Amino acid sequence: MFQAAVKTLSSASTSSVSRGISSSVRLYCEKTLRVSEALSGADLGSNVTVKGWVRSVRPQKTNLFLHVNDGSSLQSLQVVAGSELNDPSLTFGSAVEVTGILKKSPRQTQPVELEAEQIHVVGKCNPLDFPFKIKDRHSLEYIRQFPHLRCRTNTFSSLLRIRSEATAAIHSYFKENGFLQIHTPIITSNDCEGAGELFQVEPSGPEHEEDENYFSVPAFLTVSGQLHLEVMSGAFSRVYTFGPTFRAENSQSRRHLAEFYMVEAEVSFTQSLEDLTKVMEGVFRSATEHVLARCAEDVDLFHKHVTPGHRGRVEAMMKRKFPVITYSEAIDILNSSSETFVFPTNWGCDLQTEHEKHLVKHCGNTPVFVIDYPYDLKPFYARDNLDGPQHTAAAVDLLVPGVGELCGGSLREERLDLLSARLEAVGLEETYSWYLDLRRFGSVPHGGFGLGFDRFLQCVLGVDNIKDVIPFPRFSHSCPL
Ligand code: 4AD
Ligand code: MG
Repeated sequence: MFQAAVKTLSSASTSSVSRGISSSVRLYCEKTLRVSEALSGADLGSNVTVKGWVRSVRPQKTNLFLHVNDGSSLQSLQVVAGSELNDPSLTFGSAVEVTGILKKSPRQTQPVELEAEQIHVVGKCNPLDFPFKIKDRHSLEYIRQFPHLRCRTNTFSSLLRIRSEATAAIHSYFKENGFLQIHTPIITSNDCEGAGELFQVEPSGPEHEEDENYFSVPAFLTVSGQLHLEVMSGAFSRVYTFGPTFRAENSQSRRHLAEFYMVEAEVSFTQSLEDLTKVMEGVFRSATEHVLARCAEDVDLFHKHVTPGHRGRVEAMMKRKFPVITYSEAIDILNSSSETFVFPTNWGCDLQTEHEKHLVKHCGNTPVFVIDYPYDLKPFYARDNLDGPQHTAAAVDLLVPGVGELCGGSLREERLDLLSARLEAVGLEETYSWYLDLRRFGSVPHGGFGLGFDRFLQCVLGVDNIKDVIPFPRFSHSCPL
């Protein structure tokens, strides 16, 4: 008996592993097939069960046709049943469990279909009340009103599969390049960017009303994991983090969120911005290539129906090495342009979205690195280039088509005397004494950057509003999720 059990286990695990599904998942679900597995044709002739949500219902005289989707692929599985299995509760949006034989389809539209022997409606859905209609292609603005239901649409199920694959691609890139992942804290007392865009964290409830600070010092949601990564780069040389990041800034804009995901990396033993730009370009390229190859159907949905023509723009972006210009060159380009800008373009001004978009266009609609920003524009940690009269810091931004700034980074000031003088000048020497310790004990030249993951998806998919590339847009009036 023991031996028989072992045999069943090993044969099940071999067939599941060959389809890239972990054996434990497959054994647990026994005969349940994911739609993507069924469509791959692997279980042709077998009796299987598929569970999902109805995307279309077409009753005919003798047959009933359904399309069932379980989120495993953009394609739904066609189910063919005798009309005796028809049931008024089999409607668009209802949840079903269908058992039958997987057969080669005689129709052109799909390679396989499920010949149903049993259909069980697990959860009904009144199509009159359901906000999405079977034949309509709803706009992103319309769908955004239903954050709790929008993952049932093709557009958002595609987006969320792409998001998941892009996340995996970014982790793979860093793993393959010798970076250690660090889980940097979400609650912290440092304001890394010094811009004051902080959400303070305090417990709620009357029992805490007397507390001045729950954590004994003011604590905030992180605006960047950079300073924690700098600590770790002092022991592991190459580190990264990829997690939620929070900014109390204008969340009405098309490229700003109060809560977003940032990929941050820190590299030790480098004195060159070029080492950083190589990693930035490497992450961008490998994640883009990965989603184009691994989520081809899902990406196509965006490039054909949501942002027609965007595919060509992405391919053009990938064709050549990303150019590098200095901030001073960028100012010259802006000043010699015939375009009228709302914001000033004199040396020393921060680059605004309108300037970033112009620079990208000027460079041939390709991602472009801008380096060596005015020293006074950059936070205390940016490395002083010790130049003049136009005093700059070794900082770099990557600007990309359609979005503007995608990455921001710099070499870090590793020289103790320069760093403490700068912190002293703004009265922060004591607050950052731990940071100065990093320069006292085995300091090395190092640098790093942050990449806005949600903006990366906007850039690759051509999506105009950042709220349309995240799982849950905050505080929709109709659904305060
Ligand atoms: O340029 P930022 O502010 O850089 C930093 O926070 C550095 N400390 C990172 C580092 O060097 N480790 O932010 C990095 C990127 C931006 O280029 C942008 O893409 C994204 O994070 N970002 C936002 N994305 C969405 N909503 C917001 N409110 C964002 N703020 C920044
Ligand atoms: Mg920035």
